[in-house]
Amino acid sequence: MWTLARRSMGTANPDSSQGLERVTAQRRSPAIEVRSLTRVFKNGPRAVDAIDLEVHPGEIFGFLGPNGAGKSTTILMLTTLLPPTSGTAQVAGYDIVKDGRHVRAAIGAALQEAGLDPLLSGRDHLFLGKFGLLEAADRKVMGYSGGMKRRLDLAMSLIHRPRILFLDEPTTGLDPQSRSAIWAEVRKLAREEGVTVFLTTQYLEEADALSDRIAIIDHGRIVAEGTPVSLKAEIGRPTVEATVVDADDGSALAAVLTQFGEEVPARSKGAIAVRLAHGAVDLAEIVRLIDGRGVRIAALNLHEPTLDDVFLAKTGYSLEGSGGSEDGASIGS
Ligand SMILES: Nc1ncnc2c1ncn2[C@@H]1O[C@H](COP(=O)(O)OP(=O)(O)OP(=O)(O)O)[C@@H](O)[C@H]1O
Ligand SMILES: [Mg+2]
Repeated sequence: MWTLARRSMGTANPDSSQGLERVTAQRRSPAIEVRSLTRVFKNGPRAVDAIDLEVHPGEIFGFLGPNGAGKSTTILMLTTLLPPTSGTAQVAGYDIVKDGRHVRAAIGAALQEAGLDPLLSGRDHLFLGKFGLLEAADRKVMGYSGGMKRRLDLAMSLIHRPRILFLDEPTTGLDPQSRSAIWAEVRKLAREEGVTVFLTTQYLEEADALSDRIAIIDHGRIVAEGTPVSLKAEIGRPTVEATVVDADDGSALAAVLTQFGEEVPARSKGAIAVRLAHGAVDLAEIVRLIDGRGVRIAALNLHEPTLDDVFLAKTGYSLEGSGGSEDGASIGS
């Protein structure tokens, strides 16, 4: 279904085909504008629950959320492949329900299920030197690795030079090298060619590194929106998180930590976490007090705010699951 839709897309590069007026108008108005968009599946969840979004022309917009949050359902609606239950959206200035044909002409998409034909050769799909796939271009796609398939799919979504590109988890399951190749390509498209990129991801690091702005979606609802920097700044102070050796010491540990800031949900199971009101300067005093009470500590982590803290603060759970600090001091066993 998607392949058909994609192949019917025409050229929609306003810089080459239209006048300056249209370009200027396009820069002023949002590339994507979503109002109260909702999708309810029969006997299923409210997969997308009245979301509002605005994506500016030329920006990389990261749509971050865990499995089942509603990311693909949103992309399917915005690319006109799935009708909304209610609400509206304009893509490239066109209504996704009333002007589906125009929307499809303006966009490219690489969906979660790559739209590749397993029996065609890479060269049949397209000429691929630019994407590092030239060597493999004559091989059947059936024999491509996951990373090669993603890159081929991304390349195919760009054939008709779309102004808006939708990428549904473009790097899931890829090794670090293939991931950075895709990041570099996405950045180049946005920075050098002015393509607007709407990209979903489950990876905090990806959303942080790649996006100009992000929205976090959980259970079909937008729980946060902004630049990665502004979202992390809302959290502000670093968090200290500690785990006791002996569960009986839990309340003694909590009593110490909560003198230094407000308790927040912990990343690791069994840990106690506090956002430090005065920052890391209190760490030495915290350690002294814990030691003075004879509480044995299995792990003590200090971490600066990350998008996971934003996610945790908004949803009450961690997107990264349990685990220690990846960006701060860590003492423990
Ligand atoms: N065709 C469908 N029929 C019924 N329920 C569906 C259908 N498609 C998706 N859902 C449900 O809607 C919710 C959102 O699914 P969606 O695929 O949009 O999530 P996602 O954020 O893309 O997740 P993932 O990261 O796993 O790809 C989930 O609860 C899912 O089970
Ligand atoms: Mg999905």
